[in-house]
Amino acid sequence: MTKELDALLKEKRIFNPSDDVVNNSNIKKWMDKREINTYEELLERARDQNWFWGEMAKELEWFRPWGDVLEWNLPHAKWFLGGKFNIVHNALDRHMKTSRKNKVAYIWEGECGEVKKITYLSLFQEVNKFANALKSLGIKKGDKVSIYLPMIPELPIAMLACAKIGAIHSVVFSGFSAKAFRQRVDDAEAKVAVTVDGFYRRGKAIPLKENADEALRGASSVKHLIVVKRAGNDIEMKEGRDVYWHELMEGQSATCETEIMDSEDMLFILYTSGTTGKPKGVVHVHGGYAVGTHATLRYVFDLKDDDVWWCAADAGWVTGHSYIVYAPLMLGVTSVMYEGGPNYPKPDRVWDMIDRHGVTVFYTAPTVIRMFMKYGDEWPKKHNLSSLRLLGSVGEPINPEAWIWYYKKIGKERCPIMDTWWQTETGGFILTPLPITPLKPGSVTRPFPSLEADVLNDDGESITGSGGYLVLKKPWPSMLRTLYKEPERYVKQYWSTFPGVYLTGDVARKDENGYFWLQGRSDDVLNVAGHRIGSAEVESALVSHPSVAEAAVVGKPDPIKGEVIQALVILKSDVKPSSELKGELRNHVGKEIGHIAKPSVIGFVKDLPKTRSGKIMRRVIKAKVKGEPVGDISTLANPEAVAGLDEMV
Ligand code: WTA
Repeated sequence: MTKELDALLKEKRIFNPSDDVVNNSNIKKWMDKREINTYEELLERARDQNWFWGEMAKELEWFRPWGDVLEWNLPHAKWFLGGKFNIVHNALDRHMKTSRKNKVAYIWEGECGEVKKITYLSLFQEVNKFANALKSLGIKKGDKVSIYLPMIPELPIAMLACAKIGAIHSVVFSGFSAKAFRQRVDDAEAKVAVTVDGFYRRGKAIPLKENADEALRGASSVKHLIVVKRAGNDIEMKEGRDVYWHELMEGQSATCETEIMDSEDMLFILYTSGTTGKPKGVVHVHGGYAVGTHATLRYVFDLKDDDVWWCAADAGWVTGHSYIVYAPLMLGVTSVMYEGGPNYPKPDRVWDMIDRHGVTVFYTAPTVIRMFMKYGDEWPKKHNLSSLRLLGSVGEPINPEAWIWYYKKIGKERCPIMDTWWQTETGGFILTPLPITPLKPGSVTRPFPSLEADVLNDDGESITGSGGYLVLKKPWPSMLRTLYKEPERYVKQYWSTFPGVYLTGDVARKDENGYFWLQGRSDDVLNVAGHRIGSAEVESALVSHPSVAEAAVVGKPDPIKGEVIQALVILKSDVKPSSELKGELRNHVGKEIGHIAKPSVIGFVKDLPKTRSGKIMRRVIKAKVKGEPVGDISTLANPEAVAGLDEMV
């Protein structure tokens, strides 16, 4: 209790970045050039979004300059109109003319400890070779390629090779099941897919090719499956369809023309979970996405030529797309890329890596920070963390206690923490401090310059001091352009609840200084260890088991993971509840959707609270699970079901 109070009290504290941090920051230098003196003044000047983003876009190379910065036909934005551009020209090609050519782009570390250093030149050559390989399989501008790869160098290589020739990548997180992969392959109508024989996770070789085989059985769009050899496990190569990456690369030329794209041409599709229906195919484009991610990484994480940047995410999620692959390469920095588990083989793996590789800026998720907190201070203490100068957090709200721990034990009270709020849809950071921003532990502070956010109540009125719907009031360059094949859903999902503003789906509070405090999702999307999982998907997986009649899942607060999945299951009348069955159901969900979606807790119930229209009232279940009052249940069709939840077995 004392501990909690302590953290809550500290929540009121303000941590000012040191003069040293401020004066050496990229943003301060940018402001000095334009005679902008304070953070407040910066936010004020940047309200002129055309000016601000025009300046940011000039930091990249364009084949042909843009005309207008923005065309805004709500809710459809076009940025850098008429500009000719390719993100890969900026991420790789242009460095070949400078000393960055021989600089290390990635320090890649395998889980078993092997380290590979990949220079910009060799990355450029590998990307060119793979781009030519894709062309040899008939891939051209506008074609889709599904990539199902773990954290190995071939993942960024494959993504960049697609973008280089104007093909569109759809990366599917390697932890997803065969079924989830198939659904995404079908939706994108991918002509080529890329996977691996196997990879290492917590000391085990995970046979991903088996999943891919299962997924692609009868998938008519996929003509070729390219297989990276990594774990060396036995796999079956399907005659006529499968080809090894290394064989395909043999004899390919290390030069390849970069396709000249329009700034609004599609770069990638990345699927993200929603509450209902199938995953949403978020569409990002070359120009605006590049400008947005480049600017946010440069000015928030303050990266400079001598930095070693480690974004400890998976490139299969948007965090990795933007901040492991595209933005760091555009900035020409050295990044760490890691294959395995953060606490494998011991709880100091991450601290050891920071020490060995001299990491200067480290970006991770609250769930990871809380896990390390639980292991205890002795683990980071074993290592020299003095190379660090800035820290970051993303994926879910960071509780003040974890913030303070991270700040003290890892950053040694020297390193400001950039708690960045954003989404797959936003492409890059939206609510985030800069290195000059006074910090409040647990708050993501304020919008990135030029952006505008607000908190609205049910009537759409702006509110301060209490929780409401977090909305964004202006377009931004790295915003999603649409949902793939579902333009109406784009409008309905994000732009229809309140007129003229983007609905984030999160709830937040804005304080008297205009600082934002995130409170979670307003709908039923689960957030497990920073990953968004649709409750509907988990429920449909449970119900697809022959013993299950009905199921509801809710997030249950968890001190480590932020949220774990609790499932309430109604069994078919002839089935007896048992703990074996719980195990079986968990595995079933793992197979249907993927390991991360397995419910941590399963309870068998007789009935579920429902509205008259038959919708499960998750709000009531959630309250029960948290031990809170259930509130108004007058709209329930079966109020007796609420008491029945207490008899869960
Ligand atoms: C949550 C990940 C609080 C939020 C980049 C958002 C956060 C969802 C933060 C997007 C943060 C992300 N504080 N909550 N700093 N960052 N979230 O699409 O609910 O995987 O809507 O993108 O994660 O998850 P996504």
